[in-house]
Order: sequence, then C-alpha cells, then structure tokens
Amino acid sequence: MKILVTGGAGYIGSHTIIDIVENTNHEVVSIDNFSNSEPETFERIEQITGKRVKNYDIDLTAYNSLKELFFEKEGPIDGIIHFAALKAVGESVEKPVEYYHNNLNGMLNLLKCVQKYKVKHFIFSSSCTVYGNADMQPVTEETPTKLPESPYGYTKLIGENILRDFSKTKAGFSAISLRYFNPVGAHSSGLNGELPKGRPNNLVPIVTQYASGWIEDLTVYGDDYETRDGTAIRDYIHVMDIAHAHVLALEYLENQIESKPYEVFNLGTGIGVTVLEVLNSFIKATGMNLDYQIGKRRSGDVACIYANNSKARNSLHWDPKYTIDDAMLTAWQWQEQLNKAKHGDTVHL
Ligand code: NAD
Ligand code: WQD
Repeated sequence: MKILVTGGAGYIGSHTIIDIVENTNHEVVSIDNFSNSEPETFERIEQITGKRVKNYDIDLTAYNSLKELFFEKEGPIDGIIHFAALKAVGESVEKPVEYYHNNLNGMLNLLKCVQKYKVKHFIFSSSCTVYGNADMQPVTEETPTKLPESPYGYTKLIGENILRDFSKTKAGFSAISLRYFNPVGAHSSGLNGELPKGRPNNLVPIVTQYASGWIEDLTVYGDDYETRDGTAIRDYIHVMDIAHAHVLALEYLENQIESKPYEVFNLGTGIGVTVLEVLNSFIKATGMNLDYQIGKRRSGDVACIYANNSKARNSLHWDPKYTIDDAMLTAWQWQEQLNKAKHGDTVHL
C-alpha cells in the first residue's frame, strides 16, 4: 500500500514511519509543516532505516495546497495515518481558536481529499483524554466518553465523531481511532525520540531534560491522591509499541472480511504506574539520582487512568513488548544524543 503519514516529523509519527519502513513493504510519504518538529527528523529516520522518506512541508489547513501540491502529485494513496495536530493541553486552553482551527480543519481537509481521491483507509490519533475522569478503571472502549476539560481534548472527541460519521457514508472506506494512553520512550538506537519545541509538558521529557540540566526544577504534582503512594496513576506505553500498533491496524483494515467501517481501540499497557514509580524507574534504568519536590495537584489532572487493552490484543494481535524501565532507558539514551548535539557534536537538534 502507499501510505500518507501526516505529522511524520513528530514524536509518534517518526517512530511509526520507522516501524513501517522496517517491517512492511508499504511505500510511505509524509506531510509535516514542522510547527512542532524539525526537518532533521528525516535524517534520523534515514540513519536508522537506511531510507529517505519524502516529506511535503504543507499545512493541512490549506486545502488547495494539500490537494494540488500533494494529492495531485503523489497519485493514489491507499491509507492515511493522521498524527498531525497541536497537542499541548495547557496551550489549548490559552489558544482555543488555534487548536480548533488546526486540528479540525486539518482533519476535514484530509477527509475531503479521502472523498475526492478515493483513499480506502484512515487511522486517527486519538487519546485517553476522551474518557476524562472515568468512573471505573481500567477503561474499555465501551467506557462512556466525557466532555473533555480542554479544547485539545475536544478536538480529539470531535475528530473521532467526524470520522465515525464520515465512515458510515462511504462504501469501501474503513477507519480506526486509536486512543493512546501516555506515549513514552524512544527508538532502541537512541537516535530518535521526543523533542517538542519549547519546554515540554509531559512527565518523561521533563524528567530527562531536568536530569540534563535543561530544566531547573522537577515537581511531582500532588501526593495526596487516593493511590498506593499518593501520586497519580497513568498508563505509560512505549512509543515503539504504539508505532507497531499502526502497522497492525493497517493490516487489519486491509484484511478485514466483515465490514466494520469504523472502530476504536485503546493503546495502553493495561498497567497503571504512579508518578513516583516513573521517577524510580528512571533512577533504576539510568543509575542517576533525581532531586524532586512535591507540589500541589495540577489543575485538570485525574487521579488514575489506565487501559483495558484486550480489544487491541485480540483483534489487532497487538502485544506490547516494552516495560516502563525500557521506556525510561531509551528516553535517556535519546536525551544523551541531544546533550551531545547541544555540545557541538554531529547530531542536529
Ligand atoms: P508531535 O507534536 O510530536 O507531532 C505532530 C506533528 O504534526 C508535528 O511534527 C507538527 O509539526 C505536525 N503538524 C501539526 N499541525 C500540522 C498541520 N496543520 N499541518 C502539517 N503538520 C502539522 O505530537 P505527537 O506526540 O507525535 O502526537 C501525534 C498525535 O498523537 C497527535 O494527534 C496527538 O494529539 C496524538 N496524541 C499524542 C499523545 C502524546 O502524549 N504524545 C497522546 C495521545 C494522543
Ligand atoms: C503524567 C503524570 C502529572 C509533569 C497528557 C494529556 C493526554 C495525553 C497524554 C495527548 C500526571 C504528572 C507531570 C510534571 C508531574 N496527550 N506530572 N510533574 O497529563 O497524563 O496526559 O499527555 O492526548 O491527553 O493530558 O501526561 O505526562 O503531563 O503527566 O508530576 O512535571 O505526571 O500530574 O499525573 P497526562 P503528563
């Protein structure tokens, strides 16, 4: 198949491209406008896989460019994996219009092209954020979604709904929303990992940047939750396990005999891990020390969420392999590459 990956220079998109190149015969091409990434990602992908993946620097919200500069030039596309979105929860509260514009218009323009150019398959990056503060743990795909607290979360819920409605109208088209829990870690080579522009918002890059002195403080947001050590519980899933789920989802869409035009899958390990357990895993995996302080709860955080992943295991034959220790070690190896680059070694930041 010929696959378009949107957001291919980003954290999860780049790891997914690596998995596609290494484990399939699909042809892959990317669209990324580098709003939260750098063109050098494609050098890293080439270093790891030996293959240069072509990227189009197009903003998905510009329909005419998308149509003329990508679809007219590239010819038939069999499937789209749609990662490209703005993803910072806090920023979305400050800039709701930018988030709704980018994430929803990007999706709608892609679906217009799906109609026009008869693309058969679509995989959407959704998030466990659609469950909000769920009443029961672990959450299954049947757990009712809740009104998200942030505009970012809304764009994921609306994106899912748009895709579900669209799928009903198109014979021969099938789509999947993958609800990621907390993606962490980096490629086992240590040559590709997460590098958001500006100060990271997520725990693991905060930890690795703090351990490198890039960030001055590390605060645990609350130790008074009703959990085993008082800190909040999440389901940290290795980015390479997430990446491989996309390859399996493409296979599933291509091979499925029954007609299921739209499905949703949870992508988590099924194991809940506390913030302190994450920090201890980092200390164990790297042999480094971490000084941290305990702070107040962060507004909007839920106490606990983790996945029931049986549906992805049974239907996609997905078998997540990596542990939290693997994730912390690879995240640190990636950070060490970044540290070298900062000190003038050959890797580009
Ligand atoms: P990322 O920011 O690293 O990657 C997204 C990429 O999309 C970036 O390279 C950015 O430049 C590009 N992009 C954004 N808007 C674009 C546009 N209009 N046109 C073209 N390119 C555009 O993010 P990520 O962590 O790789 O996340 C990928 C997807 O997974 C996102 O949809 C995100 O919402 C979703 N997701 C991420 C997480 C997480 O914690 N990382 C969790 C759940 C869901
Ligand atoms: C994890 C835990 C924090 C930073 C977010 C989005 C979610 C999804 C994944 C996209 C929490 C604690 C964090 C710090 C801390 N993304 N923490 N100190 O909030 O679970 O999920 O990313 O869809 O939608 O909301 O991830 O990595 O920010 O936090 O104590 O400096 O670490 O309170 O318990 P979160 P996170």
